[in-house]
Amino acid sequence: MRAEVCASVIQAIGETPLVELARITRHLNGRILAKMENLNPGYSKKDRIARQIIEDAEASEALAPGQTVVELTSGNTGTGLAIVCGIKGYPFVAVMSKGNSEERARMMAALGAEVVLVDQLPGSVPGQVSGGDLEQVERETQRIVRERQAFRADQFNLEGSFRAHYLHTGPEILRQARHPIHAFCDFVGSGGTFGGCAAIFKDASPQVKCYVVEPRGAAALAGEPSSHPNHRIQGGGYSLPALRFVNRRHVDGYLQVSDEEAMQAARRLAKEEGIFAGFSSGANLAAALQLLAGPHRGQTIVIIICDSGLKYLTTDLWT
Ligand SMILES: Cc1ncc(COP(=O)(O)O)c(C=O)c1O
Repeated sequence: MRAEVCASVIQAIGETPLVELARITRHLNGRILAKMENLNPGYSKKDRIARQIIEDAEASEALAPGQTVVELTSGNTGTGLAIVCGIKGYPFVAVMSKGNSEERARMMAALGAEVVLVDQLPGSVPGQVSGGDLEQVERETQRIVRERQAFRADQFNLEGSFRAHYLHTGPEILRQARHPIHAFCDFVGSGGTFGGCAAIFKDASPQVKCYVVEPRGAAALAGEPSSHPNHRIQGGGYSLPALRFVNRRHVDGYLQVSDEEAMQAARRLAKEEGIFAGFSSGANLAAALQLLAGPHRGQTIVIIICDSGLKYLTTDLWT
């Protein structure tokens, strides 16, 4: 908690609490600690990378005063960028698939972003953004960047995506946990959170085991063929076989979670722990429970609560 007055809401990003899921693990052997990224100003961990990417670009002069910022987003990065760009005076264009939930587009627009929605591929289902859908969004993003001579806040490639978590999220967790952590598992989109946290955890102690979490049937990083690309776990699982920020030397294993397991776990977070989070947070909890039942029985596992359940009110997560 900050004691001082923040000059803007940008300074209210990060320093989120770490909460033990003591009710869910009541009858289990081991602990799960959850980093409450849903409590950021834009209700997701992506506020952190928005701040880092923009501040890095200002420092390197890759971004000029008043220049338009554009990014492809599943909603959360766009919300973070809408907040940061709005305060700093950069016009921001968010390019998003129509497959992502509607709340996200409305929130970005409310925060001052121009939101461009891209149609899904024929046969794709709303709420299920596939790698193919993402390619469409990528093409449109590139077109808008060229047209407006904009700065692309490219979360899949700019170091800020990694640095936000290497410099802040990971160190905060290590400081807050006090005792050693044994494992970290994370549902991967750009891989920035996994990459940054895994790198700092390994720097602190090479004993910490780090696991990539992917949708069951779309475990491309694990090297499996994609049989279920249209999964429900929004924000990641894009069936990309390699990610810039995922250093294989930091990956101790690959875990898979089904849509149903992610949803059940998200509902348990809400009912049992009072933590109102989304699909990917549920995926992280489901994966951590696999680890507690397996190689990390009796140990301490860290997960990220990626975003708020409020972002999914129009889905069937809460019906
Ligand atoms: C809700 C949610 N969960 C998980 C992720 C994946 O995080 P990362 O891109 O750091 O791998 C994202 C990324 O957009 C997200 O929005």
